[in-house]
Amino acid sequence: MRLKGEISYPDEEEEGKKEMHSISAGVPQHLKLVVGYALTKKKTISFLQPKLQGLARNKGILFVAIDQNRPLSDQGPFDIVLHKLSGRNWCQIIEDYRQKHPEVTVLDPPDAIQHVHNRQSMLQDVADLNLSDCYGKVSVPRQLVITEDPSSIPDAVTKAGLVLPLVAKPLIADGSAKSHELSLAYDQYSLSNLEPPLVLQEFVNHGGVLFKVYIVGEAIKVVRRFSLPDVSKRELSKNAGVFRFPRVSCAAASADDADLDPGVAELPPRPLLESLAKELRCRLGLRLFNIDIIREHGTRDHFYVIDINYFPGKQCGLELRSSSTNWYGKMPEYEHIFTDFFLSLVQSKYRKRPTVECAYWKNNNGNVS
Ligand SMILES: Nc1ncnc2c1ncn2[C@@H]1O[C@H](COP(=O)(O)OP(=O)(O)O)[C@@H](O)[C@H]1O
Ligand SMILES: [Mg+2]
Repeated sequence: MRLKGEISYPDEEEEGKKEMHSISAGVPQHLKLVVGYALTKKKTISFLQPKLQGLARNKGILFVAIDQNRPLSDQGPFDIVLHKLSGRNWCQIIEDYRQKHPEVTVLDPPDAIQHVHNRQSMLQDVADLNLSDCYGKVSVPRQLVITEDPSSIPDAVTKAGLVLPLVAKPLIADGSAKSHELSLAYDQYSLSNLEPPLVLQEFVNHGGVLFKVYIVGEAIKVVRRFSLPDVSKRELSKNAGVFRFPRVSCAAASADDADLDPGVAELPPRPLLESLAKELRCRLGLRLFNIDIIREHGTRDHFYVIDINYFPGKQCGLELRSSSTNWYGKMPEYEHIFTDFFLSLVQSKYRKRPTVECAYWKNNNGNVS
């Protein structure tokens, strides 16, 4: 935290003072919090919307752009560094900075982000968790990773006993257009036409509705989106081949107000999502991420996690005002959630409260790979 005056906005000072009272007890009211951000231009526009900036200023939070052409340690000082840039070089810069500046909260560690850029490792933690309680059960669809030789796919699918249809997804999910090129395969032979590395995942009928769960620290928000329709046994028997499907994650319209079968539309139980989010925050070592969840059609409480994204960004190259759904800017009340989150990070540090450590993370030396 910075002493007021180190970086100041004279015309907003008075407004800021008023609002600083709302910061919980334990934090001196004359301090400011500096968030350095390293985001792409697009991400900056979509995330740092005027409403967020305004509210943040009122709460004493300043956003300062990180200059990627200058050494990071020469910039700041920052309380928090928020980043979403790709490339080995950047990962190294941010990792070195974390080592040198343990007092700064870096959102989030590069190796933890890398972990969810691979569709196999991203779901492994959900599978290991094996979450099942009185509110429901959370699994991952059965899947198979193919790294080479597409001609081996039909045999591999038979051996693994995967049930058709299958969703073929590029193994690497780094946000690039290619990583979202998904296909639906009605027979395993046609899969030999696809290019590994791939994940072949059983398609789970889910009534055409998907739940996007946004996690920001301890806050959770869920929205409902339209998804791929169910595939009936009849349809399966009548069709063959592999069909590229449109980028559903981009095009999916909100299903929040749609007139849907209540058994399909009902949001996953809150306590179940809370347990899931708590465990994944810990196991993944991430604080900003989003989970795609579906409910197996015909069940009340069997859920599948099919995708995890870090600090979900506006994707698909759509215009800002389009209906792109996979970004925090569309998350209800995201301004309040983020400003409260930033303040909570620094408040817990300020009070010198030991951060609640994740035993899993600790036992793995922070290494999730
Ligand atoms: N195993 C599955 N069963 C049913 N539908 C799926 C499955 N996997 C993906 N989908 C559908 O495909 C969409 C995109 O899949 P996802 O894994 O989220 O990839 P992306 O990285 O493109 O968001 C999902 O939103 C959902 O509609
Ligand atoms: Mg997705």
